[in-house]
Amino acid sequence: MVSHVSTIAFQGLNAIDVDVQSMITNGLPAFSIVGLPDKAVAESKERVRSSLYSMGLSLPPKRITINLSPADLQKEGSHYDLPIALGLLVGLKVLSQEEVSEFIAFGELGLDGRITAVSGALIAAVHANSLNRGIICSEASGPEAAWAGDMSIIAARTLLDLVNHFKGTQVLASPQPKLTDYQETEKILSDIRGQSLAKRALEIAAAGSHHLLMIGPPGAGKTMLAQRLPSLLPPLEAEEALEVSMVHSLCGQLTQGSIVHRRPFRAPHHSASHVSLVGGGHRAIPGEITLAHHGVLFLDEMPEFSRNSLESLRQPLEDKIITVARANHHVTYPAKFQLVAAMNPCRCGFAYDASRACRRIPQCINDYLLKISGPFMDRIDLCVSVPEVKFQDLQAAPSSPSDLLEIKARILQARLLQKNRYQHFPKMSQTNADVPLKFLEEITPLSTEGTALLQKASHELKLSARSYHRLLRVARTIADLNADSTLGYEHLAEAIFLKTQGYFSSQSF
Ligand SMILES: Nc1ncnc2c1ncn2[C@@H]1O[C@H](COP(=O)(O)OP(=O)(O)O)[C@@H](O)[C@H]1O
Ligand SMILES: [Mg+2]
Repeated sequence: MVSHVSTIAFQGLNAIDVDVQSMITNGLPAFSIVGLPDKAVAESKERVRSSLYSMGLSLPPKRITINLSPADLQKEGSHYDLPIALGLLVGLKVLSQEEVSEFIAFGELGLDGRITAVSGALIAAVHANSLNRGIICSEASGPEAAWAGDMSIIAARTLLDLVNHFKGTQVLASPQPKLTDYQETEKILSDIRGQSLAKRALEIAAAGSHHLLMIGPPGAGKTMLAQRLPSLLPPLEAEEALEVSMVHSLCGQLTQGSIVHRRPFRAPHHSASHVSLVGGGHRAIPGEITLAHHGVLFLDEMPEFSRNSLESLRQPLEDKIITVARANHHVTYPAKFQLVAAMNPCRCGFAYDASRACRRIPQCINDYLLKISGPFMDRIDLCVSVPEVKFQDLQAAPSSPSDLLEIKARILQARLLQKNRYQHFPKMSQTNADVPLKFLEEITPLSTEGTALLQKASHELKLSARSYHRLLRVARTIADLNADSTLGYEHLAEAIFLKTQGYFSSQSF
């Protein structure tokens, strides 16, 4: 008799059904797994044999064959241990076929029969729920799976606990979803002294999800400013939270099974490889840009990133997805992130201060800025300088909590205006930065003075079509922060100033 247990294989964020078929027949004793298993799956038989032994069961001296169907799909990972063990338990008549048929099984086994957590439990549970089935997983994966909705979840610590649960001698409690409280670790904007221009740019970036570059000497607060952006961003919507959590689940980065409800803030080090940034490698895993989906990707010391890594961000910055190629197929991951970058104006960092600057100024500034290509700079919406903090500013009292509340209220209001305006658009296009191009003219009607200003700016700054459109989007956000329905001269003027201020400040030396 052939027993069947369901599990899944991952293809990007999608789950593909895999039927684990087990058969115990007469013949020379053997244990083979077929159906394109990778090394981790092939080694599974040792863990399964040992786990059964730990329960006092030994495999019969017969021919045992496991087939992972569909047989032409590559099977990767250690989560096949549990379905294989359950299939054999059915074959050995410890469990009945009907009992396990209602579930998708997903977990790794230890030699002592312990069920270990594996990444991707949320994806597996969401898939099981869509099929009206339950899920069997490790105790540690339970809280993560519980986010998939109202479904039957058996989260067991060991294989023996699982069998006892089915036999009715030990009832396992249903796991409960968990939430992380981020408030304790939150960094607030009031810690930053001075830097009013950069704070304003941060406010606009937060309100419209625009890309921001900060240029300034070391120790001026660039990193501090960027780290405070998450505190200004609205929490994730339910649908976004599930999408982001599925990415984090696939990468095994959901802390203690708690769903992600705050926008991710990813700050990869500049030594990060191209693959760790955009995704790929042997198993085509998601990279930092996918982990920053619906959140922020912070590139500190941007010119220190390899040219290859930076240039590879250009396409996802436009398309908001990344397609990772593997030897035999392609995997597409979401990558809708807000880029925040920081850099010194030159290598020594003191280009603004003649008394401390190196002797290579201004050549040094040009060399350093040229590390960022023209097409990359074209995608940056706001570029501001972050000058050294003055002693008076450091000594001054911190800004009052009401100032921060005002900023937050303005951002909330701008976000609400956008949400209402774009409510009929797809979920991915509900901010000024993401609204489809064909609606841009409709949402940014220009006055005569506004048109004249734009014409002058386009001519003098040699704006590309992309920069022109991005400028309109930023101006729309500035108007939204002010709750102005029409796009005025002052909104456009501020958008033009903030697009170029940082770049020209460093060029003027
Ligand atoms: N504007 C500021 N207000 C208050 N403290 C600051 C400010 N700028 C820098 N600092 C202090 O300097 C440290 C380094 O700041 P950081 O943001 O890392 O500088 P940068 O990234 O510009 O080199 C901070 O931890 C803080 O103690
Ligand atoms: Mg820094």
